[in-house]
Amino acid sequence: MIRDNIIYLDNNATTPLDPRVLDEMMPFLTSNFANASSTHQFGLGAYEAVKVARRRVADLIKAESNEVIFTSGATEAINLAIKGVAESYSEKGKHIISVKTEHSAVLDTCKFLESRGYEVTYLSTDEYGLIDLNELKKSLTSNTILVAVMFVNNETGVIQPIKEIAELAHQYGAFFFTDATQAAGKIEINVDDLNIDLLSISAHKFHGPKGIGSLFVRQRSLQRVKIQALLHGGGHERGLRSGTLNVPGIVGLGKASDLARVELKRNELSVRKLRDHLEFGLLKINNTSINGSKEKRLYNVTNICFDGADSDAIIMGLSSPEDGLPIAVSNGSACTSSSIEPSHVLTAMGFSESHAFNSIRFSLSTVNSKEQIDVVISKVAKIVESLRAMIL
Ligand SMILES: Cc1ncc(COP(=O)(O)O)c(C=O)c1O
Repeated sequence: MIRDNIIYLDNNATTPLDPRVLDEMMPFLTSNFANASSTHQFGLGAYEAVKVARRRVADLIKAESNEVIFTSGATEAINLAIKGVAESYSEKGKHIISVKTEHSAVLDTCKFLESRGYEVTYLSTDEYGLIDLNELKKSLTSNTILVAVMFVNNETGVIQPIKEIAELAHQYGAFFFTDATQAAGKIEINVDDLNIDLLSISAHKFHGPKGIGSLFVRQRSLQRVKIQALLHGGGHERGLRSGTLNVPGIVGLGKASDLARVELKRNELSVRKLRDHLEFGLLKINNTSINGSKEKRLYNVTNICFDGADSDAIIMGLSSPEDGLPIAVSNGSACTSSSIEPSHVLTAMGFSESHAFNSIRFSLSTVNSKEQIDVVISKVAKIVESLRAMIL
């Protein structure tokens, strides 16, 4: 799975497909092409494969199989969760709470709902990227139907206090949705222990294929959640997501979930070691600082500001094939990388525009090695030094 012609440190944008996932998908891309809804023997084979995958996704987050809805990815799962709850519970209230540092898939869905008469409160964060539970408490009203707070931030890796947020939301009779796109497959999630009502997942963030994800929608207990479908048609996925099932993608998501669950602890140990080694090396460069909480942060990311060195210029320098292998890193989220705005996550945390423009996200996975990290540290140091010399 490791490409030997690039050093890839942009694993929060996407990860390479695990060959074991591809192996399991291959038959469903070739000989086993049946429609999982067909009632003949051939179709039943595909249906069985989908059933196994659904169980594996449920096991990853300790849910039940009937609580997993397959979607085209996290963006669709997020839209289905937020619009689905908004539509189903508009009689109860039209107030939603989210956070300024959410991914654009959440923020833009909320903005859309504002244009349809819903009221959205966007919580701020402190300089470490964490929300204030008192501010959340003050914002909750009897009209609040949904609280949407991401599990792990895609730019900084900051982990929000999910259990406490869910508890507060429930005290006010609101549902709790978490965008777990950067958490699933990397950190243990138990939807019951954390009291989560809805949760989005994307396969390509943990070595599964692109274009497939899922939404967990709680069906057990008194907290059963009703959502309105976005897509209407053949009534697939219990009527919540019509459209012929993407069997190869679903099988891939299932396999990636299974591998992630079994190998989670081992992956965490090795990736954390590499991230810490990288961070230690990069912080030796003068005038650098970490963006986001150091303690409440996922183990695979570090987001670092290099004062006086423009991040686009650093990215360009690193991706140049001269002087060794090209290195892939990013500033901000891949979905908004065409924008010339500073990162909305960093500015919401109170950083200046120039601080945001000088910040780089390094995101690691099991594809990385210590040798690669050593190369990255020395190349970044060289580039930052030359950029700073240019403005002196
Ligand atoms: C936190 C977060 N939410 C949502 C998404 C969108 O995921 P997808 O590519 O599966 O639509 C991403 C992808 O970058 C993400 O990082």
